Amino acid sequence: MQLAIEGVNKGFGNKEILKNVNLQIKPHEIICILGHSGCGKSTLLNLIAGFLQPDSGSITVDGVPITGPSKSRGVVFQDHALFPWYNVLSNISFGLTVQGVPKPEANEKAMEYLQLVGLQDYAYHHPDELSGGMKQRVGIARALASGPDILLMDEPFGALDILTRETMQKELLYICKKFQPMVIFVTHSISEAIHLGDRVVVMKGGQVSTVYEVGIEYPRMYDHPRFTQLMTEIERELMGDELNQVIND
Ligand SMILES: Nc1ncnc2c1ncn2[C@@H]1O[C@H](COP(=O)(O)OP(=O)(O)OP(=O)(O)O)[C@@H](O)[C@H]1O
Ligand SMILES: [Mg+2]
Repeated sequence: MQLAIEGVNKGFGNKEILKNVNLQIKPHEIICILGHSGCGKSTLLNLIAGFLQPDSGSITVDGVPITGPSKSRGVVFQDHALFPWYNVLSNISFGLTVQGVPKPEANEKAMEYLQLVGLQDYAYHHPDELSGGMKQRVGIARALASGPDILLMDEPFGALDILTRETMQKELLYICKKFQPMVIFVTHSISEAIHLGDRVVVMKGGQVSTVYEVGIEYPRMYDHPRFTQLMTEIERELMGDELNQVIND
């Protein structure tokens, strides 16, 4: 399964946001997207999810254009977006019952995925009784429950403390090994992107600016020479404009 983003343009009103975005993503690949706030990362993810349509260009999965949301593409948001009035189990099984899975089966499946993210003991709790990391785990379990080929994650760990974040990164890599989805992961953290991605895509001004091949074996160590080299290169690319601006001001 291959995802092809070809010549995609997308604007809102008279504001051009994405300009001629091109990216080919291979099966089972983990792609991390970095870029300044407002450069269009979430817009791109929403296009791939099928929540938005491009103004021109195309996004296709194995040659078939994406025309709307599909259970084959799971989405995890930064703010987890759980239903506060449902317990944890129902938050996960809800989507399955909407797809026509009978309730007992949906609950069984939801429980399986809760176990996977270590939250089986919280099945009957409500989201407001959980910590940020736990809520994010429920969001991930929910996205996985419908068996997606593509997992779209928009800053999923952005609000978590550093230790929880590292645990979640490990869990995500474990999930990727087990289910082999294609993952498109937006983050503001350069080290998180290098830690997780097969490739790191830097976006600038609504375009793909550079694509970095990470090429480090897992588990990745922060002091690996390639890791530090990538950190420096990407930091320079992202901060370069700002630094020049500060110097010229
Ligand atoms: N539905 C919308 N209507 C109008 N403008 C929008 C809409 N969605 C996004 N925008 C604008 O498009 C631009 C890109 O937004 P987007 O959310 O894709 O950025 P982002 O790269 O995800 O930023 P961040 O890192 O802050 O999440 C912003 O200027 C934003 O105001
Ligand atoms: Mg965003």
